[in-house]
Amino acid sequence: MSFITDIIAWYEKNKRDLPWRKTRDPYVIWLSEIILQQTRVEQGMPYFYRFAERFPTVADFAEAQEDEILKLWQGLGYYSRGRNMHKTAQLVMEEHGGYFPNQYDQLIKLKGIGDYTAAAISSFSADEPKAVVDGNVFRLLARYFGVEEPINSSKAKKIFTELANEMIDKARPGLSNQALMEFGSLQCRPKNPFCDTCPLQLSCVAFGKGLVNTLPIKLKKVQTRNRYFNYLICRKGEHVLFNKRGPNDIWQNLHEFPLIETNAPVDPLIMLKSNEFEQLFGKKVILTGQYGPVKHILSHQKLHVNFIFIDEFEEHFKEKKNWFFTDIETLEQFAMPKIIFSFLNIFPTLKKS
Ligand code: ADE
Repeated sequence: MSFITDIIAWYEKNKRDLPWRKTRDPYVIWLSEIILQQTRVEQGMPYFYRFAERFPTVADFAEAQEDEILKLWQGLGYYSRGRNMHKTAQLVMEEHGGYFPNQYDQLIKLKGIGDYTAAAISSFSADEPKAVVDGNVFRLLARYFGVEEPINSSKAKKIFTELANEMIDKARPGLSNQALMEFGSLQCRPKNPFCDTCPLQLSCVAFGKGLVNTLPIKLKKVQTRNRYFNYLICRKGEHVLFNKRGPNDIWQNLHEFPLIETNAPVDPLIMLKSNEFEQLFGKKVILTGQYGPVKHILSHQKLHVNFIFIDEFEEHFKEKKNWFFTDIETLEQFAMPKIIFSFLNIFPTLKKS
């Protein structure tokens, strides 16, 4: 028998009795799939019942108050999922006449629906032959076919989706997808998979080569780097000192206040006494206020940002830096990172005290 036929045969004997497998209503399947994102089946189940009972149709969901949706969602985390669902339900009412789409090409255009969810809904509700590739399917394919491409690399999604699409049983895509996911989840589980009782054991590359515990390969997540930014707010009359960032770091060519970056959080009063600071601003500086630290998350960096208001500074920096004084009233004309822009919204006159 073939890979997928064996898996479907296994599924028919071993599948769990899950409520969303008993319907072909794309709306109900959508509810289940969004709830199950980043959530285990046992944890998601009571939420699924709660939502399906309270909102039996997409029209009921669309008419709900957002507060009620968030309340029902309470404890599930990633609350943007609930808010996006509300918007999607309203869009389905407005643009699809209240009929939840069941075709991949229409589903993929809806908010909060990506490749995985569009493939799941279209295959489960309309038997569209689109392979569903979740973490369980990645693992199963990597082991069975001995794929050594890291599953979180930039190429992985394409490689594994193509492989899964080749494997799918075109006569019964929905069943085929459910079976692959269930087999990956229960039999070819991440730790201690049941190889002894596996119907695919003889043809499994990872089993044959002793790679079951090595595959799938996952690249280590790039470590998040903590950085400590101390911005100096230096006012002179109606002007303030500003800087245009250079190359080789984040925010190239964007504008900001003069910055002193430190390796660790630093008390502003101590920083004012540091050599670096005194060489730039002199020794007579007084601290007039502080705002922060404000956390700002970038893809691989976590910034801890302090805004330090100073006065009585001298201009020792003149030849050393690309800093310039500019009119506070027209600061907004400069392109700047969000953290600076948000700060200006809170302190439009740049006065703390
Ligand atoms: N996790 C996400 N979707 C699922 C489904 N349809 N069945 C079981 N587990 C799932």
